[in-house]
Amino acid sequence: MKIVTAVAPVNIAVIKYWGKRDEKLILPINDSLSATLSTDVMCAKTTILTSPDLKENKFWLNGKEQSFDNVRLKNCLTESKLNYNKYIFALILIIFLVKKRCNSTLPYINWKIAICSENNFPTAAGLASSAAGYACLVYALAALYEIDGEISDIARLGSGSACRSVYGGWVRWQKGILSSGEDSIARPIASASHWPEMRVLVLVVNDNQKKYGSTIGMNHSVETSTLIRYRSESVIPQRIEEINKAILERNFHKFAEITMKDSNQFHAICLDTYPPCIYMNDVSHAIVNLVHHYNTYKEENKVAYTFDAGPNACIYLLESVLQEFLSIVNYIFPKPMDIKANDYFKGLPLDQTIIKKELMDDLNLTQNNE
Ligand code: PMV
Repeated sequence: MKIVTAVAPVNIAVIKYWGKRDEKLILPINDSLSATLSTDVMCAKTTILTSPDLKENKFWLNGKEQSFDNVRLKNCLTESKLNYNKYIFALILIIFLVKKRCNSTLPYINWKIAICSENNFPTAAGLASSAAGYACLVYALAALYEIDGEISDIARLGSGSACRSVYGGWVRWQKGILSSGEDSIARPIASASHWPEMRVLVLVVNDNQKKYGSTIGMNHSVETSTLIRYRSESVIPQRIEEINKAILERNFHKFAEITMKDSNQFHAICLDTYPPCIYMNDVSHAIVNLVHHYNTYKEENKVAYTFDAGPNACIYLLESVLQEFLSIVNYIFPKPMDIKANDYFKGLPLDQTIIKKELMDDLNLTQNNE
């Protein structure tokens, strides 16, 4: 019997991946860049056991057993349209690819496996759960089958952004140009310790499952948005170099400007999609306003928001303004629940229904600083 356990954190993109040029191989139309958070608050955990006594493969996701029908493997690999459980399809494909890359003389290679995966945060709520989940699965399988070397390309096949969670720190996913997808891999550009003062706050506006998953949303955008092509061809190539430089130089003002512009452009594309896929809600927009008020008051960008395919805000900021900004958030959005915190990453749930809009409007930041 052999057992491995892996833990993988979520990553929060500052240059968003949105749109594929190859649906099957999950090849993106643009480069993207993210920071992988520490594993303390939001992460996925996967344990895999293999034993000669197991009669069939088993899979549990967040405590619920999922049907894991191996007979489908052949169909999965040949069918062009995925009209069944996408997660199981990806899981079977990933196992197949990891085994293909390992040493085929491993004594336990043909034993059945039992996989137990869980996220310690809401799944499919636009909180990058699939990225952490797939990165964790691939990492655990690679450990089980003793693979060294590139695995981000396999993680990419689960969910595109998962390839970035395979590495810690600041990570760039190069879109690549080859049709085989071999060069569409993630590469770290700087370690987490490169910018030790950087913090991320996750403001949980709503943790329900989102209406349109990212796969459906981005496919519709590629089919119907005219803005998406402009972004991938004329904006991202320069923008990604600029943010790369800002990160390497630890230039927060520039980093924040690019991060917010890219989040806004991504959501503009969602709105330009027909019919539109709206992910942000009124609370999300209230957070955007708050951040701009705060930065204006500070006369420089001290805080940056970014929103994935959901209403929840991810706030990048430096340790020096963390307490002040948090107290303002608590003031504007009362009734905060527990603040989960450590010194690298903090999560803060908000109550969606209670926003003091009038306070937002005449916000006197000087008072709040006291
Ligand atoms: O990897 P997916 O298919 O879950 O898509 C992720 C898309 C965004 O989260 C919106 C952007 C990103 O780069 O993470």
